[in-house]
Amino acid sequence: MWGGRFAGAPDKVMEAINASISFDKHLWRQDIRASKAHVAMLAAQDIIDAEAAERISGGLDAIAAEYEAEGVTENPALEDIHMHVEARLKELIGVDAGRLHTARSRNDQVATDFKLFVREACDEADALLKALQSALLDRAEEHADTIMPGFTHLQSGQPVTLGHHLMAYVEMLARDRSRYTDARRRMNLCPLGTAALAGTPYPVDRDATAEALGFDGPARNSIDAVSDRDFALDYLMASTTCALHLSRLAEEIVIWASQPFGFVKLPDAWSTGSSIMPQKRNPDAAELVRGHSGRVLGAMVGMATMLKGLPLAYAKDLQDDKPPVLEVRKLLTLSLEAMRGMMAEIKFVPDKLRAAAASGHATATDLADWLVRERGVPFRDAHHIAGSAVAAAEAKGVNLVQLTVENLKAIDERLDETALDVMTLEASVASRTSFGGTAPARVREAVAEARKSLD
Ligand code: ARG
Repeated sequence: MWGGRFAGAPDKVMEAINASISFDKHLWRQDIRASKAHVAMLAAQDIIDAEAAERISGGLDAIAAEYEAEGVTENPALEDIHMHVEARLKELIGVDAGRLHTARSRNDQVATDFKLFVREACDEADALLKALQSALLDRAEEHADTIMPGFTHLQSGQPVTLGHHLMAYVEMLARDRSRYTDARRRMNLCPLGTAALAGTPYPVDRDATAEALGFDGPARNSIDAVSDRDFALDYLMASTTCALHLSRLAEEIVIWASQPFGFVKLPDAWSTGSSIMPQKRNPDAAELVRGHSGRVLGAMVGMATMLKGLPLAYAKDLQDDKPPVLEVRKLLTLSLEAMRGMMAEIKFVPDKLRAAAASGHATATDLADWLVRERGVPFRDAHHIAGSAVAAAEAKGVNLVQLTVENLKAIDERLDETALDVMTLEASVASRTSFGGTAPARVREAVAEARKSLD
């Protein structure tokens, strides 16, 4: 492609280190789409004649059909997907192929292709997140009344409803979706037509190519347009946060599925066995979602480190922008699909969840609140009295709720049988009716609201 200036061929290792076709072949659809928009604009602006444009466009369609059927045949001597397409075009239509690269550089071309790719990745992540939210909403609605221990420090804190716990993840995923939406909106300016770095003397219509490719308009500064990879970093950062959320849910599934907890039974379809221990049902999918989050974070850090300190405008380091995004898209898609599948089929064990909630004196706060509300005791004192009740229960080897009225009165005269009533699990969760609280009625409201805003 640049033979004019060179007398010798590149070293084999030069060729190997330079080639990106092994990964940027995944951008062939975007490359052909952008080239078709470019060539249509060149013809409309009389930069090349209409017949040549038609031949080029027809040739590009033929190449797309070939790639669709057979994939891209890699030739490292042709470096990247842009040169592969152009070389094939020359074989198909001859000299007119050489007119395609008028008023364009691979620098604006690769930035455009890659933006189209990352934009799709954002849309895909959003759709997968929505599907996972929908599965979580189904389980949350089913378990709006199911009582489980709410934890802090992984110690029993206060009873909550399982539906409420699951809705916490629906919120996290909603934020993830908004991050992809933000990233998509911010990236949606088209680099095509900024050429190598300085713009082009040809009378290009950048608004037309931007519109044809679904952008909101052309990128404003040519130097920025060819060297900007913020859009890829935004995608990786949004993906990192999303993967961390999935990892937290995965960790909970792993814990819940363990025998001491037994909160869930993982379906066969999402479990693996052991080659030696016949009883095993391992939560491998959840563990891999947890593991993948580390790789996603690593890819994001890799990209940020590659960009740090790069002088303007294009430098070949930027070719290393694609592997992290390709890897993250694959890992994230798998993780989201696996999580959706698990959430669609997971079976919770309400008896176990309830028994765990009942075991940790988890309604001690309710006793303190009762003293404040019904007896006008300052909260700090009420906290102390309820703490003494817990100590008394522990000394007797019973649960707080199993103390008798006499036991309570011995701790503080102001306690009576109505104090016992507020300490039941049902009374505790039903009382938490503040906005955003765990009361079953609030959970049902939250599910209905979330369903409405799912789109
Ligand atoms: N393969 C290159 C990449 O992915 C295309 C751009 C090449 N531009 C250049 N000035 N060498 O970044």
